[in-house]
Amino acid sequence: MNILVSGGTGYIGSHTCVELIQAGHDVVIFDNLSNSKVDVLDKIEEITGKKPKFYQADMRNAQELAPIFQENKIDGVIHFAGLKAVGESVAMPWEYYNNNICGTLNLISEMKKAGVNKLVFSSSATVYGDPAFVPITEECPLGVTTNPYGETKKMLERILMDFQKANPDWHIMLLRYFNPIGAHESGLIGEEPNGIPNNLMPYIMQVAVGKLPMLRVFGDDYDTPDGTGVRDYIHVVDLALGHVAVMKKFEDQPGVYIYNLGTGIGYSVLDIVKAFEKANDIKIPYQVVERRPGDIATCYSDPSKAEKELGWKTKFDLEQMCVDSYRFARKMLNTAI
Ligand code: NAD
Ligand code: UFG
Repeated sequence: MNILVSGGTGYIGSHTCVELIQAGHDVVIFDNLSNSKVDVLDKIEEITGKKPKFYQADMRNAQELAPIFQENKIDGVIHFAGLKAVGESVAMPWEYYNNNICGTLNLISEMKKAGVNKLVFSSSATVYGDPAFVPITEECPLGVTTNPYGETKKMLERILMDFQKANPDWHIMLLRYFNPIGAHESGLIGEEPNGIPNNLMPYIMQVAVGKLPMLRVFGDDYDTPDGTGVRDYIHVVDLALGHVAVMKKFEDQPGVYIYNLGTGIGYSVLDIVKAFEKANDIKIPYQVVERRPGDIATCYSDPSKAEKELGWKTKFDLEQMCVDSYRFARKMLNTAI
């Protein structure tokens, strides 16, 4: 297929482009580069031997999207583009609603004009809020989101469901990602957050390479085995492969399909610290501090629906996630010097 990947120079997008190309798909990327760098395209070429066609375009501006559909025969769109920092979304709600919601509405309009009716949307486990039960199945009721970022995901899921009802020939896949970490084994692409990272693994990576002095563990008094928060960490390459698996689902009946993409295993913050230390033979100093507002105790998936319907199952374990994260962190630091 000829796939348009929005946000394709970003963290999950770049890994997905690699796997799509390696599976024989053609890829066109657009990104406004607000949270990624154009040299990711060279890295994708280094890994796959193919440089995807690229448009620097902002989805808030329909005029920047139109030529992409005019100049390429697009079969389907994987829509990663969006702002995703939870704390920033609390400080800048207008920017988040405008970018994520208005941008997505523009993208859908341009798809409609071009007669493209296959869409994969990057949703998140955040739509379950504090989940009603774990492991979380797709039937778990959606919860109360605690920040504008999460709300954009929940709203967009609803918008896309309503839209599909009114446009029954559309194929819409809502993929709810759990916690992607790790990097491509080449060490060429990975997650490069701006400033001080908010998420656990990017923070640990910076402690590991000496850029930050120590990890702060946000609370050890949760109702979990060791008191620290439990999440479902998934290797970003497994997540990328989930998107490749979803491509086959486009051959089925039109409709809305929802899948959790996770491993089904919950690890605590201290499990992650210990695994990282062991896998990389390095010490990660940490200190337990107050809980972070808005955090929940436990969140992990039941990924069996994706396994049954997509034939997709994760294959990388936590040790591999830690090894690949550290390899990328070291490469990133060397480049930065
Ligand atoms: P990322 O920031 O690395 O990638 C997103 C890309 O979108 C960036 O390259 C950015 O420049 C681009 N972008 C943002 N606004 C744009 C706009 N208006 N027009 C064009 N491009 C724009 O993030 P990621 O981690 O790769 O996440 C990809 C998607 O997956 C996002 O929608 C995110 O919300 C979702 N998601 C991520 C996680 C996670 O933990 N990383 C978890 C669940 C869901
Ligand atoms: N944590 C720390 N110290 C840190 C950072 C995180 O102890 O410096 C803890 C958190 O308290 C939590 C766990 O590590 O218990 C994971 O936190 P992350 O910030 O890495 O991930 P979250 O589960 O809070 O949220 C992430 C994304 C959301 C997304 C969600 C599910 O930020 O946008 O995963 O996909 F919705």
